[in-house]
Amino acid sequence: MHNNKELQSFQQITSNFLQQITEKKEINSTGIESLRQILRFHEHRYYVLNNPLISDFEYDQLYQSLKEIEATNPHLITPDSPTQRVGSSINKSFETVPHLVPMLSLENSYNADDLIDWDRKVKEQSNLTIIDYCIEPKFDGASISLIYENDLLVRGTTRGDGVEGEDITNNIKQIRSIPLSAPFSHYGIQQIEIRGEIVMTKAAFTNYNESLIAQGLSPLANPRNAASGSLRMKDPKEVAKRNLDAFFYNVSYYNLSSSPLTVDRLLKDSDLQQNQQTTVYGKRSSVNPFSTHSNSLQLLWDVGFRSPQKEKQVVQGIDEVIKHVHDFELMRDTLPYEIDGMVVKVNDFALQEKLGMTTHHPRWAIAFKFKARQATTKLRSIEFQVGRTGAVTPVAKLDPVQVGGVTVSSISVHNEEYIREKDLQIGDTVLIERAGDVIPQIVKSQPELRDGTQISIDFPKECPVCKSPLFKEEGEAVWRCINIECEAQVVEKIIHFVSKDAMDIKSFGDANVRKFYELGLLKDIPGIYSIDFNTIGTLEGFGKKSIDNLIAAIVASKQQPLYRLIYGLGIRFVGETTAKALANAVNHLLDFTTKSEEDLQQLDDVGVKVAKSIHHFFSNEQNIAMLHQLETLGLQLINTKKETIVSGGLQDQTFLFTGTLNRLKRNDAEVLAEQQGGKIISGVSSKLNYLVVGEDAGSKLEKAKKINTIKIITENEFLALVGFEE
Ligand code: IVH
Repeated sequence: MHNNKELQSFQQITSNFLQQITEKKEINSTGIESLRQILRFHEHRYYVLNNPLISDFEYDQLYQSLKEIEATNPHLITPDSPTQRVGSSINKSFETVPHLVPMLSLENSYNADDLIDWDRKVKEQSNLTIIDYCIEPKFDGASISLIYENDLLVRGTTRGDGVEGEDITNNIKQIRSIPLSAPFSHYGIQQIEIRGEIVMTKAAFTNYNESLIAQGLSPLANPRNAASGSLRMKDPKEVAKRNLDAFFYNVSYYNLSSSPLTVDRLLKDSDLQQNQQTTVYGKRSSVNPFSTHSNSLQLLWDVGFRSPQKEKQVVQGIDEVIKHVHDFELMRDTLPYEIDGMVVKVNDFALQEKLGMTTHHPRWAIAFKFKARQATTKLRSIEFQVGRTGAVTPVAKLDPVQVGGVTVSSISVHNEEYIREKDLQIGDTVLIERAGDVIPQIVKSQPELRDGTQISIDFPKECPVCKSPLFKEEGEAVWRCINIECEAQVVEKIIHFVSKDAMDIKSFGDANVRKFYELGLLKDIPGIYSIDFNTIGTLEGFGKKSIDNLIAAIVASKQQPLYRLIYGLGIRFVGETTAKALANAVNHLLDFTTKSEEDLQQLDDVGVKVAKSIHHFFSNEQNIAMLHQLETLGLQLINTKKETIVSGGLQDQTFLFTGTLNRLKRNDAEVLAEQQGGKIISGVSSKLNYLVVGEDAGSKLEKAKKINTIKIITENEFLALVGFEE
């Protein structure tokens, strides 16, 4: 969309702004529109192209500075300023408003024969022998309609009954891939109504469900429900949290203005090229957006929307359509969002017009539905698992069944309420759904198929692992084991601590944690840093190399930034984002011991519930003792504000080993030193910083004693130096 030169100029302006901010130079109000354009440009790079050019931190700096200028110059705020998405007040009710053009549905097809039949009708009505079709994904979300007037987003509407929908403009503004303004006027368009689909990506869906589960709430069944449930939410801020996306695939209406660019001129490609202007998002398209559907997708893309511009395919004749839809179905799981089929559209607008529509659907388009990824199977039993927060999660064990290419034999059913809502009984036939790479869910039970052998599900009163009584907090759906010494919780806490998003201790893994715990070699989080690797070395399956890797990963984890440690502590309701906010709020982790719940609530992302949980964690003596212990072991409790520290603390220090080492093999010791940035040298000289002496050290030790600058240390001292405590 932008050529290199334009990108460079955007980047140049960006760095000028950033520099001004760093130097604390004031950005004056004349720079405001330029700053807004830069922010829009970066939003588009991030949310539409998925290809940001600056860091989140830099974006935030620019955004904050725009907010400051606007605060002192409120008259300069424009409705399409990037700051105008947030802060919308609560939706009291959603007004019913008419669509400019009815929102129709699509006819469905399920196989090649259906498509061939449809193509025959199109050919008959058009008197053509071969038709150009545009094929695009059928996005599985919730449909919406937007109106832009004089380039500004003025209204966003749900489908409603197709004739009227509900005005959800405030919520729509929370979806950052939807531009608040778009340069339609460059095409002579004064008013335009466009149609699209709100979707939640698979990744956003997984995150969102995880956060629901962490709060003891029931997760949503699939990304479609998550998207459609978002549109009519009362609080726009909640919509923002869902990280929704939107694709636009149809221009349902447009109104051309009497601007200097007349329709006649627009229709001439040569004129279009001469009149190319740089807009916020890019150049005027060199295609005529009013001639074909694929060109209209290009127009939407060019003015800044996510249209299926890259995903679309224009083909000739139905045979190519059939081939393409089948090929695309095979790629379905590789897409970041859910699709439930393809939509085939007659590409030529004049022909679309000629074909017209029924009251239900246009004759120029048809949906090709993919095979449903649902299956039925039998629910055989329920297993109750205890997680790191003590939450007891029921897991349904099923007769193994293939859904969307994978075998499913066990599905979490979350909590007691969920089991009641879905009316599940042991022995039931259940309908399950797997949406792409999204975790399978039970859609419903089929009570009509019960034969009297079904057994209702009783939730245990005792912890299935430590047998202590379970508790349920008021207003919560989850039963918990509150015995903090419960074996299941301890193990799960350690597993969480070493996991990828937390301390990222590579090659530790669930299985090792469980094994070491069972063998009594690991009993709590600090224990990770003093595992007896001599004993581990005697275990089957632990070679020298795997032990070296594990030691190196454990040592390296001490340098992880504070937010990872906070996240790794597994404080209830503290996910990665909150952990980052917390890390940034203190100089030292133990500063939290002096913060009240009210103080905590002042932080971004921290509400009443979260504040309570954090406060609870830092009021517990055992937790504080553990944090002191971790600090003594060399972990980062200070907020260094650095994302990651790559090299170790022994940068350029030289080492030499002499004598027989007890705990480490010579070679392993050398690797450890090097992993921390040290260098191994071969002889004793003034260049040597550390001589590590084992048993029966000889002449090297004697020689080193004569050089004052050399530090002579034992093997244990060396281990302490590289960060590995006894
Ligand atoms: S075109 C008048 N294109 O599927 C034509 N619809 O089952 C309007 N949908 O109501 C629809 N992806 O909500 C069209 N690429 C796409 C689509 C799409 C998803 C939805 C849309 C429509 C429903 C019909």
